[in-house]
Amino acid sequence: MPILHDPHEAAQRLSDGQLVALPTETVYGLGGHALNPLSIRQIYATKGRPAGHPVIVHLAAHADGSEWGEMNAQAQALAKAFWPGPLTLILPKKSHVPDEVTGGLSTVGIRVPHHPLTQEVLTRLGCGIAAPSANRFGRVSPTTATHVVSEFGPDLAVLDGGPCAIGIESTIVDLSTELPALLRPGSIGKEAIESVVGTLGSSQTPAPGTLKSHYAPMTSLHLSASVEADRKRFEEQGLKVAVLFASEPADYAQRLYAELRRLDQLGVDVLIAETAADIGIGRAINDRLKRAAFEFSID
Ligand code: TXA
Ligand code: MG
Repeated sequence: MPILHDPHEAAQRLSDGQLVALPTETVYGLGGHALNPLSIRQIYATKGRPAGHPVIVHLAAHADGSEWGEMNAQAQALAKAFWPGPLTLILPKKSHVPDEVTGGLSTVGIRVPHHPLTQEVLTRLGCGIAAPSANRFGRVSPTTATHVVSEFGPDLAVLDGGPCAIGIESTIVDLSTELPALLRPGSIGKEAIESVVGTLGSSQTPAPGTLKSHYAPMTSLHLSASVEADRKRFEEQGLKVAVLFASEPADYAQRLYAELRRLDQLGVDVLIAETAADIGIGRAINDRLKRAAFEFSID
């Protein structure tokens, strides 16, 4: 049985060194015990992810982030404002954090996820859980337990927490440099972060999540602000087309990956995805869409 419903069973498996996919408010994560290097290596192998990509450590709401990284005043202010929630902080790491977690970097990414089942797992386990998104490397992130099963098959245990409420990955803020910097846009916008820590700088830290090609479906993906004209153009070339229409931004984010997966199964020649208004969470949607379409773009 790959689908679990009991957080205690999930915690037991993690404690035994097994991997368990877990629900969060953003996307499902492929979780392993954060202090067990063998579990972390298994995460890399399962995802087909190259070594040297750091993974985020997820913490219980009552946990102290300073057990994992240097929580300076800005980190504490951001944690107070946004945790539990879709915000990851990159901090100088504490020495006991395994290299497997940080990809050998001197920093660690931590976040307190907002999902009651995963919070229960974290409390039961009594340790952080390292978890990248539970998809094969470079592919679309999963927002339901069924998506995870379709990525990895029936042997991986998945704790079913229902569809993810936000649907795109956390905002990442780097606090390891002099000026805090946004590494990945998410549902918590730049302005909201700046209202707590002041103006954000641009980061020197390479974040593998900022690869140009990422979150990609198998079908060729074309982004468009004028869907009907593009649909007509492709159909005139004899191509079969499916369209992902934008909706109210939070709703669009929530269904984005599920829809990309569904449309990818239709066997059409081209997917057209409508771009979002480039404001707030719309920026994060467009960021994901651009990376999802990158390998299909001509230039
Ligand atoms: O919403 C999320 O953040 C989801 C859920 C499961 O929590 N997780 C997620 O993990 O998106 P992943 O591994 O797919 O993306 C995490 C990103 C990667 O681009 C990774 O490079 C970056 O965070 N990251 C993690 N630790 C880092 C560090 N120490 N320095 C720089 N980037 C880091
Ligand atoms: Mg990912």
